[in-house]
Amino acid sequence: MTEPDLDHHRSGDAVTEELRADVVAGLTAEQKWLPPKWFYDAEGSELFEKITQLPEYYPTRSEREVLAAHAGDVAELTGAHTLVELGSGSSEKTRLLLDALTKHGTLAAFVPLDVSESALVDAARSISADYPGLEVRGVVGDFTQHLDLLPGDGPRVVAFLGGTIGNFLPAERATFLRSVREVLDEGEWLLLGTDLVKDAETLERAYDDAAGVTAEFDMNVLRVLNARLGANFDLDEFEHVSHWDAEHEWVEMRLRARRELTVGIPGADLTVRFAAGEHIRTEISAKFRPGGVEAELAAAGFALDQWWTDSQQRFGVSLARSVRG
Ligand code: SAH
Ligand code: AVI
Repeated sequence: MTEPDLDHHRSGDAVTEELRADVVAGLTAEQKWLPPKWFYDAEGSELFEKITQLPEYYPTRSEREVLAAHAGDVAELTGAHTLVELGSGSSEKTRLLLDALTKHGTLAAFVPLDVSESALVDAARSISADYPGLEVRGVVGDFTQHLDLLPGDGPRVVAFLGGTIGNFLPAERATFLRSVREVLDEGEWLLLGTDLVKDAETLERAYDDAAGVTAEFDMNVLRVLNARLGANFDLDEFEHVSHWDAEHEWVEMRLRARRELTVGIPGADLTVRFAAGEHIRTEISAKFRPGGVEAELAAAGFALDQWWTDSQQRFGVSLARSVRG
């Protein structure tokens, strides 16, 4: 098996320290919340992959349809030498881009970046094996912190797929897009996947499937707090909720306490009280409208070049070029 290069920007101690700070900030707030990146230990990454195969979870299939139709256009338009992928996970759909860019003859390097070391190593290994001649440089890192450390010759395409941009709050989204723009040279590219606004029922079901896989994924953040901070969350005391917030146009995942509870989190020197029915917001997943995506890209210094959707107009993929900002 070919061993790909791996750059590490996350040591165990620093990660625990960061988790502790996030837990203190989130679970002492009036409205309790936790950042979604803590879902993704090895088990969380596996659960996410299971989600992508659920009948209710359309985004992966819809985005794959778009990439299957337009990966060739991405290759033609960008002539990329390096494909960077942020929050790459299994990089499964990314193979459509790798196929098209390899066929086009310009691609030299693939740089997947993810906080989940297990997902990254598996993906980097199998892509190295399947694309001989391609330099694969995996980066274990945080896309809100480590973008300036990305290797690779231009022209580069940065792919941010799956609709993960929707997991930021709007202000965080603007900061993130700016930071991507800052590491790119003028004329380099961003390929962005955005899930689109649609009816509430489809959206709520996509985040609360009949088989209960999304509920398990949601609960996984409590398992991570138990394992890393010695917390004593009893998962049976919480229920998973998916809620479409029509005002903000995002789906919220919540973990709701079934009764009044007190939870100890020794690793964060914290005792947290829950009233019966009180919830932790564990994720937002914002849904977009085409005009909104274009405006947010423009505000960050990107000019929209192409906008593609699947045949049911559920999911949008934009190809945008960095402009003088
Ligand atoms: N791009 C893949 C995976 C999406 S799941 C797809 O489209 O299917 C979101 C991925 O982002 C996970 O692999 C998770 O580990 C990663 N992730 C979440 N927060 C992150 C962060 N702050 N920095 C880097 N990766 C992150
Ligand atoms: C990674 N991200 C785009 C997923 C989403 O749809 O917001 C995470 C997820 N949460 C529940 N199901 C999937």
